[in-house]
Amino acid sequence: MASSAIGMVIMVMMVCSTCINASTLSLNYYKHTCPRVESIVAGAVHKATLNDKTVPSALLRMHFHDCFIRGCDGSVLLKSKGKNKAEKDGPTNISLHAFYVIENAKKALEAICPGVVSCADILALAARDAVTLSGGPSWEVPKGRKDGRISKAAETRQLPAPTFNISQLQQSFSQRGLSLQDLVALSGGHTLGFAHCSSFQNRIHKFSSKQSIDPSLNPSFANTLQSKCHINNKVKNAGSPLDSSATYFDNTYYKLLLQGKSILSSDQALLTHPTTKALVSKYAHSQLEFERAFVKSMIKMSSITNGGQEIRLQCNLVR
Ligand code: HEM
Ligand SMILES: *[C@@H]1O[C@H](CO)[C@@H](O)[C@H](O)[C@H]1NC(C)=O
Ligand SMILES: *[C@@H]1O[C@H](CO)[C@@H](O)[C@H](O)[C@H]1NC(C)=O
Repeated sequence: MASSAIGMVIMVMMVCSTCINASTLSLNYYKHTCPRVESIVAGAVHKATLNDKTVPSALLRMHFHDCFIRGCDGSVLLKSKGKNKAEKDGPTNISLHAFYVIENAKKALEAICPGVVSCADILALAARDAVTLSGGPSWEVPKGRKDGRISKAAETRQLPAPTFNISQLQQSFSQRGLSLQDLVALSGGHTLGFAHCSSFQNRIHKFSSKQSIDPSLNPSFANTLQSKCHINNKVKNAGSPLDSSATYFDNTYYKLLLQGKSILSSDQALLTHPTTKALVSKYAHSQLEFERAFVKSMIKMSSITNGGQEIRLQCNLVR
């Protein structure tokens, strides 16, 4: 009896190794220890965005990658060291950039409240600021994450791939405590940013043994994508914006998806399940519904914590 109860507890702990752990986070976590944290991070994001319009999309994606591997613990920020190849240098690192924005915010914070604010929290705040600066909603970010000490390139294989179908996407999200609704709302992050040819070549060249182009793509849109990405493409930064208004945070992503103008197979997959398809339509028709759902799901995703251990002094190095 007692041993089966212990077994249950251990099982629950194993299932929840990366569960949403909102209880340890709080909105006013730095109220006394670093009251200016929010404005310092927002300032760093704003300043960098003035010089480089790709900063907001980069920060949003960086936070997603951080939270999906070992929870939101800043593991994506660590650099490779000695024999250890970090996530940053993993196979899916394509398009990850703007790490300097987090380092700059950290430097400014170390000057006023040394050793207090975690890099994982800085990234969570920066992702929110990125959305707001791009014309999207704002929200209060729960804080109190700790930074992890482990980052392994091979673990980036745990990220969902752009070729995933709906069941694979659902599984990837549910393993992290995220629902189909979270999947649809968070995929709306693709209202910002850019994809390289390699991320969608499966749809425009050799799609199947019978068709070279994914038939779910709008034909003229497929032609446009093909003209940007030749087979065996060698042009270094060739690709396509994920949305026709890729520096503006809005619900255009869902509207285009309904027109067969999505970029990734994983975007298109949202139309292949009745639940997710209905949500795509809902968000395509209402910017407000999208924003509400996005904020709710962002808070959920950014509360995935796996018990980091420390507050780094520099975001790319463990203490
Ligand atoms: C549902 C599973 C997801 C898959 C399979 C996926 C996959 C991808 C891929 C392949 C790219 C293009 C990378 C490149 O070619 O450069 C991309 C870009 C991006 N993703 Fe996702 N993603 C997913 C979910 C998310 C989520 C949850 C967010 C954030 C809420 C997000 C935010 C972004 C952003 C902002 C970009 C543009 C990055 C840039 O322009 O620098 N993605 N994603
Ligand atoms: C991605 O990984 C490659 C190979 O390890 C590395 O050369 C490159 O610098 C990495 N890119 C980023 C943005 O860290
Ligand atoms: C998705 O892909 C997996 C792996 O290839 C496959 O087993 C599964 O049947 C597919 N599901 C759907 C809905 O196509």
